[in-house]
Amino acid sequence: MLSVKLAKNIGFCSGVRRAVTIVEETLSKSKSKVYSLGAVIHNPEVIKQLQEKNLCIVNSLDNLDVSSTLILPSHGSPRNILNTAEKKKLRLIDVTCPYVSLLQKICDMLHKQGLEVIIVGDRKHPEVRALLDLAPGAYTIEKIKDIKKDIFSYKKLGVISQTTQTKDVFFEVVSEILQKNPLVKEVHVYNTICLDTVRRQNEVKKLADSVDILLVIGSRHSANTKRLLCIGRKINRRTYLVENAKVNLNKILKKANKVGLISGASTPQWLVKEIVKKIINLRKEKLK
Ligand code: F3S
Repeated sequence: MLSVKLAKNIGFCSGVRRAVTIVEETLSKSKSKVYSLGAVIHNPEVIKQLQEKNLCIVNSLDNLDVSSTLILPSHGSPRNILNTAEKKKLRLIDVTCPYVSLLQKICDMLHKQGLEVIIVGDRKHPEVRALLDLAPGAYTIEKIKDIKKDIFSYKKLGVISQTTQTKDVFFEVVSEILQKNPLVKEVHVYNTICLDTVRRQNEVKKLADSVDILLVIGSRHSANTKRLLCIGRKINRRTYLVENAKVNLNKILKKANKVGLISGASTPQWLVKEIVKKIINLRKEKLK
């Protein structure tokens, strides 16, 4: 009989919960339009709900009137955006996750100390782009292969990671830097992976190993969801991404007895519940 094993860490992480609560409070109090530059968090289902409550998503600040309210996203904002917003005298509501703010402070500090900054993360992700703004010229390393022999010109390095980075990749990168760059004398390592990411990554490993099929619920645009998927797949090939309740679970769950469920950090709990309900209904149908 089909059984469901649910991860302990499901639904929003602390940073996303805080961001969504602040946005909802702002929307309920505001008499005029509230804007956000791009998505506040990386989950289209949640963004749709916020838009229904009148959140207006824009791609640039160009057409915003003076004193408009602008939400700054949970993954941080580049300095040029903050400067433009200041010039336009926008009312800023900053929902940057405290883990991201701490990472930004460390990045800024390392750059000011004259260290060559190495960011282990996805260079196209807004969180990393905001860091590159704080430490111009910093290296971004996405995978071990990016580390060539003697690529670093400085003898002192400061290594930080995207908050949603995989722990194993981060530690491997640090060790590879030391092995391939013997002239580097000092490496200041700051493990800036957030606690929620670490917990979910530890949990996905255990879960993937103990079920027939693992479902990772979340958006393909969410960095932490993609990493959970990748870790899960390495252990259990039958690991699938489920973005919403429209998915054909009947097809995915064929020949499965035990199903594991985990979610990304920006996946709402109601979506996880909907998927669980669908699985239970499927089980009932099979028993008929
Ligand atoms: Fe913050 Fe970590 Fe969530 S950085 S937004 S608590 S995944």
